[in-house]
Amino acid sequence: MAKTISGFSKLSKRQKIEWLAANFFQNPVAAEAELVAWHRRDEAQQRIIDGFTENAVSNFTLPFSVAPNFLINGRAYAVPMVIEESSVVAAASSAAKFWLDRGGFHAEVCGVVKLGQVHFRWAGRPDRLRALFPALKTHLVASSNDLTAKMRQRGGGLLDIELLDFTHIEPEYYQFRASFNTCDSMGANFINSVLERFGEQMEFFMETAEGIADHERDVEVLMCILSNYNPNCLVRAWVECSENELEDLARDAGLPGHAAVDRFCTAVRIAAIDPYRATTHNKGIFNGIDAVILATGNDFRAVEACGHTYACRSGQYRSLSRAWVENGLFRFELELPLPIGTVGGLTALHPLAKQALDMLGNPSAQDLMMIVAAVGLAQNFAAVRSLVTTGIQQGHMRMHLVNILNHLGATEDETTAAQAHFCRQTVSFSGVRTFLENARSGSGVT
Ligand code: MEV
Repeated sequence: MAKTISGFSKLSKRQKIEWLAANFFQNPVAAEAELVAWHRRDEAQQRIIDGFTENAVSNFTLPFSVAPNFLINGRAYAVPMVIEESSVVAAASSAAKFWLDRGGFHAEVCGVVKLGQVHFRWAGRPDRLRALFPALKTHLVASSNDLTAKMRQRGGGLLDIELLDFTHIEPEYYQFRASFNTCDSMGANFINSVLERFGEQMEFFMETAEGIADHERDVEVLMCILSNYNPNCLVRAWVECSENELEDLARDAGLPGHAAVDRFCTAVRIAAIDPYRATTHNKGIFNGIDAVILATGNDFRAVEACGHTYACRSGQYRSLSRAWVENGLFRFELELPLPIGTVGGLTALHPLAKQALDMLGNPSAQDLMMIVAAVGLAQNFAAVRSLVTTGIQQGHMRMHLVNILNHLGATEDETTAAQAHFCRQTVSFSGVRTFLENARSGSGVT
């Protein structure tokens, strides 16, 4: 059987599955049955999901979980989270509950500007391009009016276009950096359409405008594309309370509150000093952020790429959060750009993304930025709290226990017995296997 094919995308889904099953699976019958089994029975809904990408042959399921008790700017939320890592939702929920009694989370949006770029080459003198730019800019704005009209009606649109000269680094290379407010939409298609119009219209302007010498008319547009780095689409979330209210921060570890707070703040500072730790620290933040981003149908790659670049803005990769105590007041805050939306794209199409947004009270993009930042902060709080007190494995492996038990085919009774047993024991794969073997051979536990 040939393992390559032309016209795969033109096959029906059934034909695709049959071809894959016949060519790439050790057990074609089981594979085919499994791929088919994960389809939705509702054909109309399945068609919507299939429409998200090319060559969809099945659905890939992840749990749609909820972290309740998030108090954010005085409003209570149950936050939808889609993630495969076992302890993330439990950690977010426990942090939400912890801060519920201490004023909850606070958040503010510091900016909503998104960026796009037209990269081009031009062989003329930089000062000539600078001189031509005001008229060119007026032309670009006017020529994109039809594309920006609806966004302007909603209070957004194109904000500015800057000319940037990179010829000292790359011969003849310039850039337009355009800024946008895309209101409640993530805005990628809007921005890219406007940028492509700029590309065409710049060429038109240079070919036709008066006062341009013939040798200056040639311009070569290389790329028109949004930038995923949006440092001014920024949100800040924080928690704060008096240090005295943190007496129980490390109760499980038997540490006095002030020592736990000191260890916590030091751990966060270490993530600002050392990129190796910062990467793990920020990964913990994105555990929470990505889960909400996925649940609400947003683009988690865009959010991650932007966040990690922001973490490097000083020239070194550092933590996105900060913690300190001043005059007896503990403050822990997270600041990062979150270029997301609550209308358009998958937010309206994915049936569960729609429900997720409904559960959050159909937030504006700015509201969602604040919710997502609060969850990122909660996740970071839970992780660092565990790290500097009990260690991470205790909670993590307790949650992972269920995965191990499922993997080993444990029955409901065996699961209950194992959970009771392992709340006092270190969880490991081999330990759980031995527990089950002993239980099944009737020799008792451990
Ligand atoms: C694990 O997914 C995330 C943590 O490693 C984050 C951290 O170390 O801060 C626990």
